[in-house]
Amino acid sequence: KTGRIAVVGSNMVDLVTYTNRMPAPGETLEAPSFEMGCGGKGANQAVAAALLGSTVGMVTKVGDDMFADNTIRNFRDHGVDTTHVVKVAGMTSGVAPIFVEPSGENSILIVKGANATLSPADVDAAEDMLSQADLILMQLEIPLETVRHTVRRAAQWGVRTILNPAPASPDLRVEDLRDLSFLVPNESELALLSGMPTDSEDQITSAARSLIAKGIGNVIVTLGGRGARWITAERLVPVPALTVSPVDTTGAGDAFIGAFAHFLAATGETETALNKAARYAALSVTRRGTQKSYATAEEFDSFCATQTASAD
Ligand code: RIB
Ligand code: NA
Repeated sequence: KTGRIAVVGSNMVDLVTYTNRMPAPGETLEAPSFEMGCGGKGANQAVAAALLGSTVGMVTKVGDDMFADNTIRNFRDHGVDTTHVVKVAGMTSGVAPIFVEPSGENSILIVKGANATLSPADVDAAEDMLSQADLILMQLEIPLETVRHTVRRAAQWGVRTILNPAPASPDLRVEDLRDLSFLVPNESELALLSGMPTDSEDQITSAARSLIAKGIGNVIVTLGGRGARWITAERLVPVPALTVSPVDTTGAGDAFIGAFAHFLAATGETETALNKAARYAALSVTRRGTQKSYATAEEFDSFCATQTASAD
């Protein structure tokens, strides 16, 4: 079975500079290499799910610059439905200057451009597609009111929702997310949203349960190299991480969420989907780039086969 995934979210053009270190203020420094690629948390999650075989549609806005057509072509090349990708006159497309250091660690600036104008009306205009989806994915690179509106409408349509509250926003309130099925924060996003510390495993569990008490169905906390935790009112399920040598961690979180959505829609099994998503994200970290580092279903299957073999 392949699921139907819809993403209400951002697209960006990632301008990735690989550098030996960050320049100091006032310093000019030569960096060894540069790559441009399609990114943005919404688009990344959409492309990961599409590469794995889901039927994916994207609700997003691009500008009227040289990046817009490239972004639309990239969606089409991945089989992502672009019926609800809208061009905005007089605005730039979203861009993300990214700096990657030899450790694989990154620093990212985002300029939202046209993404900042994705509105509740755009969501309503996509009702045909959204209401037929198995899952709707969102992140926070679009206006909060659009996220709130989508969560409410999805509940009316009976469609499950996944929100990745990234980048962290102090203006997001858990009261806005009462109908949300899955919240997928990292530790700092969880701390911000719950107003509680998240320095230990116990604190993470308590913070997640405080959100569940306010109406969120499931919290999945991503912990980078330490894997993830799936927390409900009754259960605490650890999702182990794979040990890999990181080359470029950009977009690993998006790989995780896109893959989770794909496998959840395809299998209906949350724990299975999370374990596969952790592997998919680990594979992306071993390759350069954002979407460029995402594996196809075939590549992912052979990666999983080698992992099982080396664990024996
Ligand atoms: O999560 C990674 C993404 O964050 C990058 O693709 C960049 O565009 C920013 O949105
Ligand atoms: Na990568």
